[in-house]
Amino acid sequence: MDKIPKPNTTVARGSRGGLRTRLLPVLLLAFGFSVLSLGLNARHLIGASPHAVPRDADRILNQCRQLALPAGPPDNFHRRTVSDRFEPGTPPTLITNATIWTGRVSGHEVIKGSILIDKGIIQAIGDIESAYLNEFSGLVTVDAGGAWVTPGIVDLHSHIGVWSAPELSGADDSNSLKGLVLPWLRSLDGLNTHDDSYQLSIAGGLTTVNVLPGSADAIGGQAFTIKLRPTSERSTSAMLLEPPYTINGTHVDPSLPPRWRQMKHACGENPSRTYSGTRMDTIWAFRQGYGTARKIKEEQDAYCEKAFAGEWNDLGSFPENLQWEALVDVLRGRVKVHNHCYEAVDLDGMVRITNEFKFPIAAFHHAHETYLVPDLLKKAYGHPPGVALFATNARYKREAYRGSEFAPRILADNGIQVVMKSDHFVLNSRHLINEAQQAHFYGLSSNLALASVTSTPAAIMGMDHRIGSIRKGYDADIVIWDSHPLALGAAPQQVYIDGISQLKNPHVTTKPTHAQKVPQTPNFDREAGLAVEYDGLPPLEPHSSLDDPVLFINVYSLKETGSMGVALVKGGRVVCFGSYSVCGKEAKASRGIKTIDLHGGTIAPALTSFGSPLGLEDIQLESSTKDGQIFDPLESNVPEIVGGDGSVIRAVDGLQFSSRDALLAYRSGVTAGVSFPTSSGFFSGLGTAFMTGAFHKLSTGAVLQDVTALHISIGAFTRPSVSTQIALLRRLLDGGGKGDLGLAFKKISEGEIPLVIAVDSADIMATLIQLKREAESKAQAHLKFTFTGAAESHLLAKEIGNAGIGVVLRPVRPFPYTWKSRRILPGPPMTKENAVTTLMRHNVTVGIGIEESWSARNIRFDAGWVALEAGEDHVSYEQALALASSNLEKLLGLTKENSDLVAVAHGDFLSFEGKPIAIISEARNTVDLL
Ligand SMILES: *[C@@H]1O[C@H](CO)[C@@H](O)[C@H](O)[C@H]1NC(C)=O
Ligand SMILES: *[C@@H]1O[C@H](CO)[C@@H](O)[C@H](O)[C@H]1NC(C)=O
Ligand SMILES: *[C@@H]1O[C@H](CO)[C@@H](O)[C@H](O)[C@H]1NC(C)=O
Repeated sequence: MDKIPKPNTTVARGSRGGLRTRLLPVLLLAFGFSVLSLGLNARHLIGASPHAVPRDADRILNQCRQLALPAGPPDNFHRRTVSDRFEPGTPPTLITNATIWTGRVSGHEVIKGSILIDKGIIQAIGDIESAYLNEFSGLVTVDAGGAWVTPGIVDLHSHIGVWSAPELSGADDSNSLKGLVLPWLRSLDGLNTHDDSYQLSIAGGLTTVNVLPGSADAIGGQAFTIKLRPTSERSTSAMLLEPPYTINGTHVDPSLPPRWRQMKHACGENPSRTYSGTRMDTIWAFRQGYGTARKIKEEQDAYCEKAFAGEWNDLGSFPENLQWEALVDVLRGRVKVHNHCYEAVDLDGMVRITNEFKFPIAAFHHAHETYLVPDLLKKAYGHPPGVALFATNARYKREAYRGSEFAPRILADNGIQVVMKSDHFVLNSRHLINEAQQAHFYGLSSNLALASVTSTPAAIMGMDHRIGSIRKGYDADIVIWDSHPLALGAAPQQVYIDGISQLKNPHVTTKPTHAQKVPQTPNFDREAGLAVEYDGLPPLEPHSSLDDPVLFINVYSLKETGSMGVALVKGGRVVCFGSYSVCGKEAKASRGIKTIDLHGGTIAPALTSFGSPLGLEDIQLESSTKDGQIFDPLESNVPEIVGGDGSVIRAVDGLQFSSRDALLAYRSGVTAGVSFPTSSGFFSGLGTAFMTGAFHKLSTGAVLQDVTALHISIGAFTRPSVSTQIALLRRLLDGGGKGDLGLAFKKISEGEIPLVIAVDSADIMATLIQLKREAESKAQAHLKFTFTGAAESHLLAKEIGNAGIGVVLRPVRPFPYTWKSRRILPGPPMTKENAVTTLMRHNVTVGIGIEESWSARNIRFDAGWVALEAGEDHVSYEQALALASSNLEKLLGLTKENSDLVAVAHGDFLSFEGKPIAIISEARNTVDLL
């Protein structure tokens, strides 16, 4: 989605690209000189010319010669014995008994053995002779115990450091709004050394990230690649990986090739939105910018041609312009262009520009329609761009509407390089490996899925001579995992950057044995084919609804230890579950009964989604597709005609069905949703519970419960003050509300409906616990409070438990977005416990929520991940399911549970093996085949 500013608020982000150098050798040949001859003294080139040789002729010729050098490492790079990033004092380390995914051989090579690292460099891999090891004094030995080891994770697209967490007005340097074309800006200049994300992302295995300016502008500026570890110098510059020599005026040997530079481009909605412009304006801005750069380049080339020919008279000075030099370098093929670009119309525009101005694009980012136009990508100048994607984050705006979870595999099938990226903190890059896992789940091969966050991004940014693979001579950036890295919930046991271990006293969770292997993911060939056939909008409705009895066979049954059972379903109800001999008789009675083979899969309770506007929107950034925002009585007067400040809005009145996010949720076994009216202030209104698979509101069972709970939010908005919001709540609990609002609070005071409060800060929660106590003693009743968001709730777990308050963690995997949510409990490997286990230990009823509608489909994995992460703090399969079903429903005021069941083929509902293929609904008396 990329951070660009909405008018008057914040900005969205992201994009990238790249260049290879083809023009420069051509230039040299045209002048009839070899590089060698250029190295001679200028006087040799002059011949009988009457031109007076200037004193600085050598400097001029060197400068001209430099223009022709392709970017990349010097030829002797791999003869280095010490990394330029080595921190003196770092001991040599030997990691033994590792299962090493090296990243070589297209990601197919796995070596069992050891890795020796020293001086910031990988010194040896495999069976290492002990005589050789003896040369390393003070060797630290780490037994990996057979664990999977990969190169450090590389994020091609991040705003870490320039859009720091917690988000404060003083630390957002991601977008300049000073023009559409700003190639002279550098993300380096806004790169904060204090971002809580650095440590958190390292804890997810990230070692190197490409820090891009945002996507508000067509050309937002230059990107810089950094390593995430703290440095002894504590400076911004010390974080950089191979920055261009020019950044600090260092003069280098002119025979050295320049280092790769990185540049952000963006097309489509973001620049249009930022400048109230159109796509036509943006593409013209590119052409104008490149036209300027091309002119300078041509002047430079003409100048150098004269200099090489010894035509010194009237040569003048070298044509250059500080504002445009980076764009000139793009035209010289020495910059990796990272291009935020989504739709076919925009991709086409950029491909035309690359051919008009003759430069390649390293990668299209976000690029949600690239899988529909692989042949267009192949027409780009130089080489087809790589494509950097989110796994399942799509549909959030028009240009993302046709995004597909099958894009990675489809692009790979077309020979396009695929990268998974975070756009941090659009997604929390700590979990970038989960993007690769999901890409693999939806069909990208395991070798390419791992490559998509290691070797492929390294190659696309021109850093694959030192990062992204485990090879002798490469940077010692290494992750030791607690399971196979593509298994759900995989977490690092240890992370090395430049040979330095990054996790102090890591907590390692014991993962199940099967998690040590690549997950056996379902087959989605049919769905992937339909995505392309339907131009990105394949039908998502169930393909049939059965009212007749259905017999599910080969259902894995826990009770019968590994044996397969059958389930007979009549009228959407499981009437018999057990062995064939038990249920078969009844099944036979139904002639021609439909039989569905689950191939050892399961039947599980369906899940419920909460926390996003699912059911109230189709496209997040398109207001015409949404229910919209309610009036905020604290900011303006609510018109009397709608009830004034006594009005209460009911989400049920705004429900809309058949959104693609809702149908995708349904297909993933998330059959119910709870939503509340959208607000940007204290009041939201009354929530509602609905079925995600319903066609319209009047269809059978579409609305599960009209009114669930009253929703408010405290502390998320700065006006009016938190204390004013508390005062208001106290007054309302005390019977101070009028009209419908007064009635709603009466029900809350009588404990009839819950008050659901979005709150992150532990300080505010503490005040709310007091307030509840006050209100209960006055009302002589038990009130139902639920905290949602609740990032800091673990700090008050005991008090929350004692107060009988429930908690819906949203998001379930915490991130310190704001000051009021910054004190998170990160969980393994940083801490043993996380918020879920801490709250459960204090008998708090816990649910899990989501932030945006697209992620409703992923709740099954969120729940499974909780169970895996808890490890020894055992969270059972039933408890994990309850987090996103019965607990959640109770906490949000549902008086009866979502009774749907999900039939999952091939594996378990909460894992990467299972595929939901049918929804069994007692409420609607049907079985929907997905
Ligand atoms: C490697 O670790 C595994 C798991 O602990 C163990 O079974 C195996 O014997 C070890 N192999 C070597 C060579 O140490
Ligand atoms: C300039 O940057 C280079 C590359 O990071 C570094 O090696 C050098 O020490 C820097 N020089 C100064 C004066 O900071
Ligand atoms: C949680 O509940 C159990 C069972 O009711 C009780 O034994 C235990 O003491 C409670 N724990 C806390 C921390 O309140």
